[in-house]
Amino acid sequence: MSILDSAKQAMMGAIVRLTPDAPPDPLIGRHGAVGSQLSRIDGPLKVAGKARFAAEVPYDDLLFAAVLFSRVARGRITSLDTSGAKAAPGVALVMTYQNAPRMGAPKIMGESPMAGGPSNLPVMQDDRIHWNGQPVAVVLAETQEQADYAKSLIRIAYEVEPAITSFEAAKAHAHPPESVLGEPPALETGDAEAALAEAAFRVDNLYRTPRHNHNAIELHAVTVVWDDGSLTIHDASQMVHQTAWTIADMFGIGEDKVRVISPFVGGGFGGKCMWYHQVLAAAASKLAERPVRLVLSREGVFRSVGGRTCTEQRVALGAKADGTLAALIHTGVVAMTTHNSCPEQFSFPARHLYAADAIKLAQEVADMDMLANTFMRAPGESVGTFALESAIDELAIAMNIDPIELRRRCEPEKDPTSGAEFSSRHIIEAYRRGGERFGWHRRNPVPRSTRDGEWLIGHGVATATYPYYRMPGAGARITLSADGHALVQIATHEMGMGTATVQVQHAADRLGLPIHQVSFEYGDTTLPMGTIAGGSNQTASVVAAVRAASDALFDELLRLAGNSSPLAGLKADELEARDGGLVSMQDPTRAENYAAILKRAGRDELAIEASAPPPIEVQKYSMHSYGAQFCEVRVNETTGETRVSRFVGSFDTGRILNPKTAASQFRGGIIMGLGLALTEETMFDERTGRIMNPSLAEYHVPVHLDVPHIEVIWNDIPDPHSPLGLHGIGEIGITGVGAAVANAIFNATGKRIRELPITLDKLL
Ligand code: MOS
Repeated sequence: MSILDSAKQAMMGAIVRLTPDAPPDPLIGRHGAVGSQLSRIDGPLKVAGKARFAAEVPYDDLLFAAVLFSRVARGRITSLDTSGAKAAPGVALVMTYQNAPRMGAPKIMGESPMAGGPSNLPVMQDDRIHWNGQPVAVVLAETQEQADYAKSLIRIAYEVEPAITSFEAAKAHAHPPESVLGEPPALETGDAEAALAEAAFRVDNLYRTPRHNHNAIELHAVTVVWDDGSLTIHDASQMVHQTAWTIADMFGIGEDKVRVISPFVGGGFGGKCMWYHQVLAAAASKLAERPVRLVLSREGVFRSVGGRTCTEQRVALGAKADGTLAALIHTGVVAMTTHNSCPEQFSFPARHLYAADAIKLAQEVADMDMLANTFMRAPGESVGTFALESAIDELAIAMNIDPIELRRRCEPEKDPTSGAEFSSRHIIEAYRRGGERFGWHRRNPVPRSTRDGEWLIGHGVATATYPYYRMPGAGARITLSADGHALVQIATHEMGMGTATVQVQHAADRLGLPIHQVSFEYGDTTLPMGTIAGGSNQTASVVAAVRAASDALFDELLRLAGNSSPLAGLKADELEARDGGLVSMQDPTRAENYAAILKRAGRDELAIEASAPPPIEVQKYSMHSYGAQFCEVRVNETTGETRVSRFVGSFDTGRILNPKTAASQFRGGIIMGLGLALTEETMFDERTGRIMNPSLAEYHVPVHLDVPHIEVIWNDIPDPHSPLGLHGIGEIGITGVGAAVANAIFNATGKRIRELPITLDKLL
């Protein structure tokens, strides 16, 4: 198997179901550094401006890149005039398909082929245009301004071919995708349509969500340098190894010839993976024989980095008189391209959330000529929960029961579609705690019943859910020094969420060392392979790898300790790590610290590398995170303006490793959810396939004044079947927010809005 195949398998492994059971982690119940409010260890570097991001790495002789994007959606380039650009001041190179180095098609691009998709498009290898915004030329110059100016002098003519740029037109040819993240695109238990037709209460509606684009504050950027056939890429990356392998494969060089370094990432959310800019920078640098910096403009990110696709979803619910579900139907269609594999799994929440006599789920895709869409924070779940959780609210209103009570009655005992046991599901407890904090019992269920002058006030609730993933193949190296210091190394990623901080906390407890005796290195392909930072899997995957390495380390320490140690004759599972050494759990007088063991063995240090066991837990259990999102809105009766005035997120995500970093993850997700609910929308010109609002001035993400105080609380009940009892928390926060806001707006105004974003025109 090639390393790319194994990378692909590793990434798919999150979704592939593997086999049997794992013993619980002995650290699950222990409280030490894990669980403490440690501030981010990279914080001081960042506030002092000392954290060096990809676009800040200095090189002598650096060239700056500007990228030109096509203005047509489909066709071919018929003429290219780059003479003006080449003659412009400071220009070192103009690269087009005519002079770009020959490169194989990327095995990984956007999300593809992580879910086993069709092959990707080649990058700047021919005259074909596949989407409006495709990179068609790269200019290198001595300064960024010179590159940008020279780019404006390039003249290109196109032969335009008919393109499918209208979702309406594309839907006429919608078809099921080969798979949805490795799962069949449709699933049915019982006859859901018949059960719906006979149900005592029914709701059956269409919900629409728009395209969204990635807008991390840090623009996509690389600084690259070739040195004697080896390539170094300073990237802003969620997947350093996969990027290195992909580039090596494209250039036909050994994987050991490409190093990707990414110590800091200014926001990722699924967008900072493998896209065109890394390849173009490497290719142009190769031609120019000089280091190159390529920072996409904000517009460039919109044109050449995929975002969340649009969806049209039907949710139909049929309830019996006792408030349990007879039928649950969630079907729909999303826009996609033929060359990627991200069908936005909006139907996934309905697989796990509610018990129903009959369930029917199905996804279709409509192929369009557009930039490949990709993962964006809780792909599928964020927009899927908007539809499903709006529909649950509509059903509760139709039945005249409280929406939390309806959810309680539909709570399943086992996973409703797979039949598996839940590993850890305390969703009703999250509702109870959240409801108490929010004051849900004070809510008036009658729409338009609460007002403050011209402001109508409403309250809504919705369920959050996101799967637990852990990816196989993660390895870690631990180096223990004779001075009692431990260095933990794994090529994982820090996008600002606190990876390094919680992993130091974890390693400190795992090794029985104080926090200041542990350091953590990551974000570099010279380190043991970690996992991609995606699918909220990273923390569990890294914890499992570090645990494997520490187990191996303890075995080796025991061997080194030998017969004259107080530990002689003990086995690793009879020991715990504490106070800088190993201690017998039976007899605490039998103990020896690491420094003494190494000294007697005549060693300055001991380094051990090991890989995490495969994620067998997801084979046996249905594993998900949950939450209850409570929202208060004020809607202006005159202007239609909606202000979110209060928000409580109550989560059930296993054990929380660091309350401070966790709270920020939850809040960040909820804030992104407020954007999804009220403002974010990529304007796509259906005539030309061109994105019309490629800037933060016209694409509206929430700003501070849009965000109220957000309270976040959590059950903190460990999952007995996951490393450290944890679930990932990077994506759960955005899920359910769209519906919580829409449900609150209904309670305020009596208007049910089924199309995001809920802008004021829809409320007048
Ligand atoms: Mo996330 S969309 O898996 O970075």
